[in-house]
Amino acid sequence: MKTYIFANWKMYLDFDESNILANALLLEKIDFNKIELALFPSALALREMTMVLNQTELKVGAQNVNWNPKGAYTGEISAQMYKDVGCKYALVGHSERRHVFGETDEDVRKKIEACLEADLIPVVCVGETKEDKDEGKREYRLKKQLMRAFENLDLANKEIVVAYEPVWAISKAGVGEACSAEEADDVHGWIKNELKQYTDKAIPVVYGGSANEKNVVSLLAQEMIDGVLPGNASTKFETFISLIKEAEKVS
Ligand code: PGA
Repeated sequence: MKTYIFANWKMYLDFDESNILANALLLEKIDFNKIELALFPSALALREMTMVLNQTELKVGAQNVNWNPKGAYTGEISAQMYKDVGCKYALVGHSERRHVFGETDEDVRKKIEACLEADLIPVVCVGETKEDKDEGKREYRLKKQLMRAFENLDLANKEIVVAYEPVWAISKAGVGEACSAEEADDVHGWIKNELKQYTDKAIPVVYGGSANEKNVVSLLAQEMIDGVLPGNASTKFETFISLIKEAEKVS
């Protein structure tokens, strides 16, 4: 399996900044036999990027989708619309969507189904809050999120990825502390085991939450971690290219 690197640019980069960073990455020699690299820019930058990147090995993904294919949904963009303009992936249920914009497990499920229907690969984000963790409810929270996302989900001929993103580890304004590699590995193992009751497919599980060029080697050296989903560290050329180069060493 290739190592996944999914760059979540959130609302950090505008149209010009996104294109400049994508073009800078294109000039680099990246070993795509080892790395599956996808960029998740803002919806506005995305079409410009797919036009260029879809001629290359880099992939593009959406940060969020609406589950309806079309209709009177002001301000929304459907999974099918993202597929039509060349996306391969879509983040679903990112913690900022859940906790800032009030997305529920039910919304996340509908989004997953819409992505699968449109042939977009959903990257389903799950993770516990600091409160959950402190109260010993991490497994309870993850179990619930995974059950709502995967129970009776038809995955025949479909791909799907899970991202374990502990909410407490996600950076704010560039400041955050990642989960230790060993702890993340344990949780990834637990998630993979949990997923066995829903599917016999081997579903990749990637880690997100202050992943950066300094900790990527220790994270990826773990047996159960199939990739990383950096936010802040992927928005600056120097840190992002060094994260990719470090990842290549252990992939
Ligand atoms: P971060 O973001 O790397 O800035 O913590 C990761 C994410 O939220 O996907």
